[in-house]
This record gives sequence, C-alpha cells and structure tokens, in this order.
Amino acid sequence: MSGHGTPIPMTSRKVSGLRGTANVPGDKSISHRSLILGAMSVGETKISGLLEGEDVIDTAKAMRAFGAEVTDLGGGNWSVHGVGVGGFAEPSQVIDCGNSGTGVRLIMGTMATSGISATFTGDASLCSRPMARVTDPLALFGARSYGRKGGRLPMTIVGAADPVPVRYVVPVPSAQVKSAVLLAGLNAPGQTVVIEKEATRDHTERMLAGFGAEISVEETSEGRVITLTGQPELRPQTIVVPRDPSSAAFPVCAAVITEGSDVLVPNIGLNPTRAGLFTTLREMGADLEYENLREEGGEPVADLRAKFSPNLRGIEVPPERAASMIDEYPVLSVVASFATGQTVMRGVKELRVKESDRIDAMAKGLRAAGVTVDEGEDWWTVHGLGFGKVPGGATVASRLDHRIAMSFMVMGMATEKPMSVDDGSPIATSFPVFEPLMESLGARVERVAG
Ligand code: S3P
Repeated sequence: MSGHGTPIPMTSRKVSGLRGTANVPGDKSISHRSLILGAMSVGETKISGLLEGEDVIDTAKAMRAFGAEVTDLGGGNWSVHGVGVGGFAEPSQVIDCGNSGTGVRLIMGTMATSGISATFTGDASLCSRPMARVTDPLALFGARSYGRKGGRLPMTIVGAADPVPVRYVVPVPSAQVKSAVLLAGLNAPGQTVVIEKEATRDHTERMLAGFGAEISVEETSEGRVITLTGQPELRPQTIVVPRDPSSAAFPVCAAVITEGSDVLVPNIGLNPTRAGLFTTLREMGADLEYENLREEGGEPVADLRAKFSPNLRGIEVPPERAASMIDEYPVLSVVASFATGQTVMRGVKELRVKESDRIDAMAKGLRAAGVTVDEGEDWWTVHGLGFGKVPGGATVASRLDHRIAMSFMVMGMATEKPMSVDDGSPIATSFPVFEPLMESLGARVERVAG
C-alpha cells in the first residue's frame, strides 16, 4: 500500500482583494479517459492540456504496464500509441493507482474483458473504498475478482477470456461505475446496455463516440439508456483537455468569500453534468458571470469571472443536482458558512465513500472553525454566520483527501483567524499548482513546519 510520503502541514490566512487570472489545470475525468481510450486505439492519440497530477500520472503508468506507449512530450502534451481494443498485455507488476478511485475503477473495467489478470492497489484512502460496485457488474461479463474483505484493494481481477455483453442498471449515481461497465463492454461481442436513473458526468459516452465507437443514449422512463456495440476499432484522436470545473471551484469560491476580489478563470469545461456548483452559487447570490461561452472539442467551455459577494443567502440545493456537483460539496459548505441562513444539501450519500467521508470530514472541520453543522446519512445542513463573522482558528485533518485540504485553505482566506490542515500533500493528486496559483491571486497559503 503506497502513502503520500511526508505530511505537509499548511496554513491559510485572511486576505483581501484576490485578483488576477487563475489558469487551473486540465480536467481530471477527461485526462484519465484520454489516456485509457488512447491506449485502446490503434495508432497515436495526441493529448494537450493533460492534468499532470498524481492521479492521472498513475493512470499513465498503468497504461504503460498494460502495453501502451505513453510519452510525456512536455508542457502538458502527451502521446499515446495504443494497443487496440482487447490488445492489453498482462502487467508483470502490481498496478498502483495511488489515491485515484476513477483510475482504478476505469482501468479494472478496461482489462476485465480480456483474458489477462492484474492486481491493483492504492494508498490508504483508496484501499478503504468500496470496489464491489465495479466488480459486481464486471462479474456479469465473466470476470472474477479476489480482494480484501468488503471488496477492498489490494485486489486481483481475472479477466474474462470469452466475455458476454451485459445489460446493467447502475444502482448508485456513479460515473465511475457506468464508465467501468462501458469500457468492459468495448471488448465484449454484441451490445452492452447501461442504464442510469440519474444522469452523471457523460465524458465517457462523448469520448467513446469521438473515438469512433457505436454508442447511443436514449432518455426513457427507466432513465438514461446507453447502448454500446462491442469490439469496435477505436480511431486515435487529437484531444484538447478543457480546464477542470472542479478545480476552478476553489479560486471561484475563494473570490466569492474574500472581500474586494475579482478573479477570471478562463477556459472552464461547463458540461451540464459538471456545472451544478456554479448554478448553486448564483442562486445563493454570488457575483459570477460566464464570458465568451463557446464549444471546444464537443464540450461547452466559458471563461468564469467571480467577484466578492457579501450578501450570500443559504439555500436548499436540489437533490437532483447532486451528481453534477458531487465533488464540489466540500467547498460549497465553506461558502455556505459565509452566507446568512441555512444551506441544506440532500441526496448526497455518495459523499461518504469518496477519498474520505466528506460529510464527516467537513462537518468536523467546520464545527472546529465555529460553524454549526447538522448531518444525517445522506444530508447535511450548514448554518451560515454571514460575511466577517466566521471565527476559524482550527487545524483540520485532511484524511488523504485533496478536496478537504483545499476547501479549508479557501476557508482560511476569509475567516477571522487562520485555518490549517495537518497534511496538504494530497492536493498534488488533482491540483499540483494550487499553492502558487492561489498566491499569484494574493492568497497567503503557507507550508508550516510539522
Ligand atoms: C468521476 C466520477 C465521480 C467523481 C470523481 C470523478 C469520474 O465519482 O467523484 O471525482 O471521472 O468518473 P463517482 O463515480 O464515484 O461518483
């Protein structure tokens, strides 16, 4: 089991006037999929703007271990010479996916319908997360899995040499599960059908179509019915990865709660299955504008301008919006602390099985900072104190979770006393330039001696 090395304690202090342009890194979901689909194509896929965070680098290493040629050309440009659908070689080493649930679950799906075996592991966070949600549908294709109790990593998947296509209703709102089944379906003969009751991020469907797979999506009374024809020859692509709305969330929310701020976050992917936070912030009264709305590489993109918003109101976030902002609830709960009134977040049980139990991690940290939080299994409420009234002054455990660490660093920019985390090292999984980028806007985020 790998760890993250030496913990990096970090502190963030109150500032005013965050200003400038925040060029956040490439989209994590699209970066993983670019490498994986590139590895399953015949010929060279060229990727620019790849997120070079630890999660994605672990996926690049994994694709090499399965036989693809993956080359870092510098400056966010990468080249992948794929081995074709069904062409994966059996890796000679354990595949270490680090902190990444997306990496491990998508790769398990990808190899599960070829006649090879692979053993997967990850850090302490990943080894505590449920994998049965993926191995259950993979068993229907004929793959077998041998993991620790409760379906945890380390785990060996024995791929199905003669896979059969499946029809699968995804039981939890999860793009990772949906994508694992679709990627497995690529190497099964005939049609694999995946049905999701609630729409989750649809990058896999969009990108499979772009790579030349036969895939259709139908909205029915049962939900979104996705039909994929197996064993296509995927055509290599040239991919420009848009910047990550989930990373943009941090400078945007920092600007909204920090007096005198005006921050531009250019080129943000605004796929509707990802943009729920920005709708929610506007409903709360945040001064947030989309500029230069356009389409790039099949995804809607815009420049976001966020300004200090002193009169935020707490709202009820509609549960049907949860999937489109599932990674953004931690930082939303920080913004909610600076609003007046309650922000109620329902239908968010999935937050309990992310890199950490995010409801528990945030609730404990917010309470330590002087904010009242109520919680149940699938909901939580933040009682906002209003701008200029949040005490802060706490040190919070980040629990190997990048979004917990970044959320409390954002909070410290506007609390009366500084906010600290015991370990900011997980930030490198998704946002390796977080500290210099926030500092360039005027934030005071510092590493402190442990
Ligand atoms: C992701 C799906 C989501 C999200 C994760 C990325 C993806 O996870 O939280 O950060 O790229 O498919 P779930 O599928 O578990 O909801």
